[in-house]
Amino acid sequence: MTPDYQSIVQAVIDMDVRIVQTAGNGPHKITFPDGRSMLSMLKAAGIIVIHKCMAVRHAISAEKAGVDCISLGAYEYGGHTGDDEVTHWVSQPTAARKLKVPFLVAGATSVGSQLAAALAMGASGVEIGTGFMCTQECPIKQSMKDRIAAPETDERSTILLLRSVKNTGRFYKNELTKEVVKIESEAPGDFGKLATLMTGKRNYSSFHESGDPDDSAWTCGMAAGMISTIPTCREFMETMVAEAVQVIQQQSQHLVKAPGLSSRL
Ligand SMILES: Cc1cc2nc3c(=O)[nH]c(=O)nc-3n(C[C@H](O)[C@H](O)[C@H](O)COP(=O)(O)O)c2cc1C
Repeated sequence: MTPDYQSIVQAVIDMDVRIVQTAGNGPHKITFPDGRSMLSMLKAAGIIVIHKCMAVRHAISAEKAGVDCISLGAYEYGGHTGDDEVTHWVSQPTAARKLKVPFLVAGATSVGSQLAAALAMGASGVEIGTGFMCTQECPIKQSMKDRIAAPETDERSTILLLRSVKNTGRFYKNELTKEVVKIESEAPGDFGKLATLMTGKRNYSSFHESGDPDDSAWTCGMAAGMISTIPTCREFMETMVAEAVQVIQQQSQHLVKAPGLSSRL
């Protein structure tokens, strides 16, 4: 059943929310019986609209439609990645060349050098999911945070699933996701065979009830491999910004001081 999007948008406006992020279909493409679109309703109320997409071509369409900012995901991202397999290393500088509105690096960030790199590639900031999942304030079971921060979690600990049903997403790798991979290779496109493993109920239980990180496929980005502590949100952000500032200062000195660099190029 399609949610009543118009009532949701009206509630957002009534509650004086100032920034809204949309994802999936462009907010200009979601239209209501009175002829208005989700985007036109939000903009008329003076709300800043950030649209999340996984491809620069979709970002360009959203910009043309009038969104204020793009959150641009890529292959490393924790969530539905799309199927292009383009990494931030290429998509971000491409976005910088093609977009006029500000954009964010969505996904795979948990340390300050990445924030510095995001800014260097033309982004205005980063959007973080997995990193905030592993903070003290995040209302999920401690065991889930402990798994993200565990020494055995590294940059290879996530996996893409559901490509065969055209809904590719990145999840934490565990015994259950191995079973999903097996089913997808044996019966590609048959969601019926995957349904009992990929339920929202199972996912909810890992996060909020059983706390078992091995009993569901749960969304997680590659940045999990660089997380080893469970800080407060404030500590997480302050550490990241301090490292970014240090990296920018140090690295720019390398460039300026590199002896004879220009003559060797
Ligand atoms: C547990 C979890 C659930 C998420 N659910 C959604 C969702 O329902 N819709 C959405 O657009 N993004 C969702 N995301 C993606 C985040 O909004 C964010 O863009 C993403 O986590 C950034 O990537 P990172 O996790 O690699 O930092 C989810 C992410 C996580 C970790």
